[in-house]
Amino acid sequence: MRIIHLTDPHLTTLPSFAAGRFLFNKRFLGAMSWSRRQKYHLRSQLDLLVKDIRLEAPDLLICTGDLVQIGTEAEIIQAKDWLDELASICRVILVPGNHDCYQRESYQLIERYWSPYFFQERHKDQGFPSIFQHQGITFIGLCSAQAEPFWSARGMLGGEQLEKLKSILETSSDTFQCIFLHHPPVPGMCAKRKSLRDAILLSHLLKEQNVQMVLHGHVHQNQIYTANERTKVFATASASNVAGHAPASYRLFEIKAGGRDWEVLASLKVFGSSITKELTRHSW
Ligand SMILES: [Fe+2]
Repeated sequence: MRIIHLTDPHLTTLPSFAAGRFLFNKRFLGAMSWSRRQKYHLRSQLDLLVKDIRLEAPDLLICTGDLVQIGTEAEIIQAKDWLDELASICRVILVPGNHDCYQRESYQLIERYWSPYFFQERHKDQGFPSIFQHQGITFIGLCSAQAEPFWSARGMLGGEQLEKLKSILETSSDTFQCIFLHHPPVPGMCAKRKSLRDAILLSHLLKEQNVQMVLHGHVHQNQIYTANERTKVFATASASNVAGHAPASYRLFEIKAGGRDWEVLASLKVFGSSITKELTRHSW
């Protein structure tokens, strides 16, 4: 099975002068921050990536959030149009990021417009974790995003979601398990102000349940690391970035069952001053 991971496109047409519309509101700071960052996140760069992904003809595309900047309805509708475009390539599954749930009302908006990409039809009333199973692989989406105070980009899964995750992992233990979420799943992988509040609980669960693979975004960097002896974690840079330190990237995973083992051929494609491709091989 061929899977694409892309993340953090930060799609918005919010103009730099828009901040004044949100005075005395958290969105004021978000719009101000966007006026500094908008030169690094370009729709043209994102379109280049998507064009390349189309040629790869994947079976599944996983997006780990931050589709927008300050969670307004206009941005959320714009991102829905982009998701519909991706869905013409292959099945798309999505979890939200902190920018998508920027204000309390943003969550209702993303549920209204993005729900077909969060949940399979038959699971849509059960909320997160989302589940998709195909060819002996279980994909589990976690929602780590919630509205936070203006200084915070932290995330949280909460007890109920962790309980449900535990039971999904127990019942699918004979499959290859791939969890995806916006925030890094283990402590210490980003500044505290941006971290997952219950990362310790999640990392215990990853170890206890022998999860093979985790995908995440949020850090805007390409990283491969381990959460324990078995769990490999892949972070991917923003899909629209033109900044030299972390140019736009996506990952392609080819997951194969080989006898009693699993093999993953992972390629990272980076769209910097030139386009580079890096291959790594992983087995469990
Ligand atoms: Fe984020």
